[in-house]
Amino acid sequence: MPTQDDATQKTLAAMGRDDPASVTQLFVELSTRFDQHLAAQETSEHNYTLLKNAWLGRKAGVLGEITEHWLKPASPALKPLVGQSLNALKRHVEDRLEAFRQAAEQASAKAALLGRKIDLSLPGVVRPIGSRHLIRQVMAEVEDIFVSIGFSVVEGPEIETPYYNFEALNIPEHHPVRDDMDTFYLDLPRGAAGPLLLRTHTSPVQIHTMERQEPPVRVIVPGKVYRRDNPDATHSFMFHQIEGLAVDSDITFCDFTGTIDYFVKQFFGEQVKARFRPSYFPFTEPSVEFDASCVFCGGSGTSGAGGSCSKCKGAGWIELFGAGMVDPAVYGHVHYDAKKLSGFAFGIGIDRLAMLKYGIDDIQVFFQNDVRFLGQFP
Ligand code: FA5
Repeated sequence: MPTQDDATQKTLAAMGRDDPASVTQLFVELSTRFDQHLAAQETSEHNYTLLKNAWLGRKAGVLGEITEHWLKPASPALKPLVGQSLNALKRHVEDRLEAFRQAAEQASAKAALLGRKIDLSLPGVVRPIGSRHLIRQVMAEVEDIFVSIGFSVVEGPEIETPYYNFEALNIPEHHPVRDDMDTFYLDLPRGAAGPLLLRTHTSPVQIHTMERQEPPVRVIVPGKVYRRDNPDATHSFMFHQIEGLAVDSDITFCDFTGTIDYFVKQFFGEQVKARFRPSYFPFTEPSVEFDASCVFCGGSGTSGAGGSCSKCKGAGWIELFGAGMVDPAVYGHVHYDAKKLSGFAFGIGIDRLAMLKYGIDDIQVFFQNDVRFLGQFP
């Protein structure tokens, strides 16, 4: 890089080099100086800018200094030579600087690429694939079976009034059945219409459905229900049910048991038998409890080792769910003609059904969200 006291700051006359040979020699030296200056720089976009300013810069660039000190004051005889030599040097400087700029640009692009280099030999990021919860899978399985025989799926609210949860289902206030289903009532703001509660079963949707539509009715109702039950291996304060309701002009008890038998065989397999026992629900008459022959011991009541089957406690049967023919008193609440209509209803505990089918002995695992458990049911 030329310095302040070098030849570029003086006129040719002042240096005593105002003959053509000296002028040519001066330009050769300057060109060599540029080449050396360029060669000493590391290829980078920053250095390109510095070089360009040093040699071509408008104010203090070397070529500007030469124009001022060599060209402008040159004698008329020398001026053409100085002018041509200056143009030649300028082209040389510009060409070499452009090559330097391109090299610098390529170098920085390459560096950026190296920074982003992907190593294809590294193991990829394994993103675990989620799946539907087992309860959802079992719900879908039950829904498919009933949909295949003409039922449709409806849903209802999880927050209910006592009327829909109890009274319309023939469970008046102070009825002892309410004790079994004591539930969570909502804290409401003072003056709000109430009371409201978390539904204890999916049966209130029977009422909503019959209020909404004329018979015939064939619906199933999957959903969450809530009870103030203490958690243990078979009880949870929140669990899932699927309600079923069929009402028409000529539905008999045989249609009812036939439907349940079909469901049990579809769900557990042809070899499993269903039976019913008398039971009691205020909204069905007669009411029954359905059992399935034990899916673990094949209904024999004995385990493979010879003792009694631990799942059915030797009975050969496992309790499945409650059901019955719709009590005529319920039709009264929805203005259905009890003399012309008949029907059946059932309420299946989905969590217990899933436990039975998949041999799960603690209902709590459904709600702990341990992926080691959930991953077994992809
Ligand atoms: C009922 O809830 C009735 N609504 C069923 C019904 C519907 C009868 C229509 C007649 C006609 P129950 O209280 O028995 O019935 O509950 C039904 C099922 O829910 C039980 O068989 C059981 O599988 C399940 N269940 C009950 N309590 C719990 C609980 N705390 N945790 C898990 N599952 C439960």
